[in-house]
Amino acid sequence: MNYWTVIPAAGQGKRMNAGISKQWIELLGSPVLKLTLDVFEKDQACSGIVLVGSERELKQMQDFVQTFQYTKVRQIVPGGSERQQSVFEGLKVVPEDAELVLIHDAARPFITHHHISQLVENTIETGSAVLAVPVKDTVKRAIQNQVEETIDRSSLWAVQTPQAFRLSIVKEAHEKAAADHYLGTDDASLVERIGHTVTIVMGDYHNIKLTTSDDLLFGQAILLDRQGEKA
Ligand code: CTP
Ligand code: MG
Repeated sequence: MNYWTVIPAAGQGKRMNAGISKQWIELLGSPVLKLTLDVFEKDQACSGIVLVGSERELKQMQDFVQTFQYTKVRQIVPGGSERQQSVFEGLKVVPEDAELVLIHDAARPFITHHHISQLVENTIETGSAVLAVPVKDTVKRAIQNQVEETIDRSSLWAVQTPQAFRLSIVKEAHEKAAADHYLGTDDASLVERIGHTVTIVMGDYHNIKLTTSDDLLFGQAILLDRQGEKA
């Protein structure tokens, strides 16, 4: 089944502290936004992309899309001050007749066609699914630096994007969250909040989000590894 994608790219990258927002950072000469858009542009099942940018970077984004001739980027819309608001703005312009929508962070450029198709397949059945990987570290809950509890790791997942939903479900979830002034940490949490079950689909440890400068080191290694595979 075909899907639409909303790509939030309206953040400021404060934790990266690179002086530019994360989608413009280059990894081995390719801007992060190019790496991310290339995947969806080339994905057969992707019908259209909505790119969400900050108001002051909209022109830069339009020029970027034109330079690389992305034919699937149908709209570039301004985002909000929080990621959730940016996603909501993107969802508002996804065509009503799109059944499935994937929400994917611009700053997560290593997503693969394989994982997209696994996710889409699952969402057709369940209505809501996310990619996630088992947590590798032991996680403790602490107040200040006093451990309160060691959490059973076997039930913990580190959730990624894309997160995929039937369009009607995720729109309702975002509308309700906005009406309630509720701010969640991801889109799936808004869907959980209105009573839908979200399914986990096994992701991949390489599908990292570029958040701090350490992630750039790992990101470059992932790209080099992929280039080696192609050679
Ligand atoms: N994002 C967005 N609108 C916002 C905030 C974030 O569209 N108001 C996007 C970012 O551009 C990024 C994705 O959401 O692609 C994931 O957010 P995050 O990793 O937190 O990026 P930033 O908010 O840019 O980084 P930071 O939190 O360090 O400032
Ligand atoms: Mg942020």
